[in-house]
Amino acid sequence: MADKKATITCPGETAVELDVLQGTLGQDVIDIRSLGSKGVFTFDPGFTSTASCESKITFIDGDEGILLHRGYPIDQLATSSSYLEVSYILLYGEKPTQKEFEEFKTTVTRHTMIHEQITRLFHGFRRDSHPMAVLCGVTGALAAFYHDSLDVNNPRHREIAAFRLLSKMPTVAAMCYKYALGQPFIYPRNDLSYAGNFLHMMFATPCEEYVVNPVLERAMDRILILHADHEQNASTSTVRTAGSSGANPFACIAAGIASLWGPAHGGANEACLKMLEEINHKEHIPEFLRRAKDKNDSFRLMGFGHRVYKNYDPRATVMRETCHEVLQELGMKDDLLEVAMELEHIALHDPYFIERKLYPNVDFYSGIILKAMGIPSSMFTVIFAMARTVGWIAHWNEMHDDGIKIARPRQLYTGYAQRDFTSDLAK
Ligand code: CMC
Repeated sequence: MADKKATITCPGETAVELDVLQGTLGQDVIDIRSLGSKGVFTFDPGFTSTASCESKITFIDGDEGILLHRGYPIDQLATSSSYLEVSYILLYGEKPTQKEFEEFKTTVTRHTMIHEQITRLFHGFRRDSHPMAVLCGVTGALAAFYHDSLDVNNPRHREIAAFRLLSKMPTVAAMCYKYALGQPFIYPRNDLSYAGNFLHMMFATPCEEYVVNPVLERAMDRILILHADHEQNASTSTVRTAGSSGANPFACIAAGIASLWGPAHGGANEACLKMLEEINHKEHIPEFLRRAKDKNDSFRLMGFGHRVYKNYDPRATVMRETCHEVLQELGMKDDLLEVAMELEHIALHDPYFIERKLYPNVDFYSGIILKAMGIPSSMFTVIFAMARTVGWIAHWNEMHDDGIKIARPRQLYTGYAQRDFTSDLAK
């Protein structure tokens, strides 16, 4: 029994008493599940006031700018951990011992190759396809290769699917890039780190040796950590919704990739870099700010604002530091970074952005880092998807552990009332 109660009274009805649920952290939540059986539904497009599930994986305090994975602050994870260790923590709930980590790493490393037939699947795509379209298609197609023996109700089978996804996503992501370039696919190298292997598959060719730069390897690992999970965002909710019917996990992850692609979500990093290129010089910033504030202009300042953060996105703080480190290592002076820093400074002092609590988000700086590494902007969201895969699987798994209930929202119907049909077409 919950200690706190809330009551709701519909006109002409007796009041319904509802439990108020308390989490470990964050605000209390009114449990409205019993309303449906009383013929009452709530209306919340965009889920701005609705908790869609219970979860133990990630906590965000948007007002304070806090992000915790299994209780651990993101800045501590980004500076003192690795993407694979964070993946372990997200999937299993606790940090690994040395032995557990070695086993985990070995298993992930030993499953990086994909079925050879999938390499031929790529050739069905146009070379100029957006890599997100290819990633979505190929990830969905993995379901055709890993379906028959998979029982989603069996925790061990789900664990195997998790390993396959975590291991193979960098391979598929790098193949999307190589295919667009027309270069041969590079097989994974199991002697390299997760991030190092990805960079090698992206930039090596069969013609000469490619040595991974340790600063860039660390920066890539950090980018992966910062994108690993973010509780019930659009793509994670999509994965949960798709999975709630008992669907194949590779198909569910493909659904998450589709949702991530949009510019309001994971596509923002690509859109942000394009915007910075369009602004091009500090003197053009006021014009873009004017457009961002104009209600009649659909333009938004990409990399700014967040549904949950009403403070500086803690991931953006780490990303900003990494950005400076990478540019220093590469000896680059990036004009776009100057534009970005000036834009950030001006926006943070502008009443429009202050009143609406619009701060830079994770995508504001990630594009500049990836561009400096030589990665084209069309690949930015692919890298986001590769990093987020572990978060998606952790949520998909948690949903199955908690007992699956198919996601089936209701609606407020505002169409025609019933009317008779007679065809006006010639018979
Ligand atoms: N530029 C200009 N105005 C903005 C922006 C922006 N980037 N973001 C929000 N606003 C305004 C918006 O016009 C509205 O103003 P008003 O109250 O006068 O109508 C107010 O701020 C609230 O905006 P909203 O659309 O109700 O907020 P939301 O929570 O629905 O949207 C968002 C969140 C991330 C979609 C939005 O801030 C946005 O489109 N940002 C740009 C895209 C972006 O950077 N997305 C990456 C998010 S972080 C990565 C990830 O997790 O996917």
